[in-house]
Amino acid sequence: MNAALELHGIAKRFGATRVLQGVDLRVAQGERHALIGPNGAGKSTLFDLISGRARPDDGRIVANGIDITGRAPQRVSRSLARSFQTTSVFGGLSVIDNLRCAALGAASARFIDRWLPSRRLDERAHAMLVAIGLDAHADEPAARLTYAEQRALDLGIALATDAPLILLDEPTAGMNRAEAQRALALIRATTEGRTLLVIEHDMDAVFDLADRISVLVQGRVIATDAPAAIRANWDVREAYLGGAAS
Ligand SMILES: Nc1ncnc2c1ncn2[C@@H]1O[C@H](COP(=O)(O)OP(=O)(O)O)[C@@H](O)[C@H]1O
Ligand SMILES: [Mg+2]
Repeated sequence: MNAALELHGIAKRFGATRVLQGVDLRVAQGERHALIGPNGAGKSTLFDLISGRARPDDGRIVANGIDITGRAPQRVSRSLARSFQTTSVFGGLSVIDNLRCAALGAASARFIDRWLPSRRLDERAHAMLVAIGLDAHADEPAARLTYAEQRALDLGIALATDAPLILLDEPTAGMNRAEAQRALALIRATTEGRTLLVIEHDMDAVFDLADRISVLVQGRVIATDAPAAIRANWDVREAYLGGAAS
């Protein structure tokens, strides 16, 4: 079976700075894979490359057997959905309309399922609204939500699509403990049967959620393994877990 996502020898420079070099990564179908590493390691940049916001200088990106290297975001949106480290909701639209757009975008990106009855769209948007705990704010402009609520909406937008591969960049950043736990439970439930690649700083969350973990340090993957092995790995502890970043 094809991997959900394969990265082969990915390199990216900004000017003279090498941000990523020789990055190989394989995420199996249905796997929940976490990407950890200190600030500035290149994690968000890697997501930019996978989701088509930027182009790698070298290497290949293959999603479900199809080479998507350098494809524009709208051309990969059929196969993957992404949330951003900084919230990217439509501030002028109501909360429920943000979710409707996500569900609609997912539907229209699919050839066979192009015509989705509006009632089903509404149902899907409303189910996600309840799941992210924002039902009291359905008709408010998204810009009026608190930061944590906007993060929850951002997550809901990624999850409301039916993309088989979900990329989440620090989904619990800026949330308090209770909000983070609710977000993680939601992520676990809505990624069941799909494939998840998640950047996350909360180590308890990572070890709890992920089937496997990759550690990115200074633009290189220094380890990929099961959570227990990563925890036991000395290099990783030194480079990251023992450091100030976590
Ligand atoms: N558009 C850009 N132009 C120049 N440098 C960038 C750009 N985006 C990211 N960088 C640099 O690339 C490095 C990796 O950043 P980033 O991918 O955001 O790291 P992480 O998400 O792991 O914290 C940082 O040194 C950052 O300053
Ligand atoms: Mg980042």
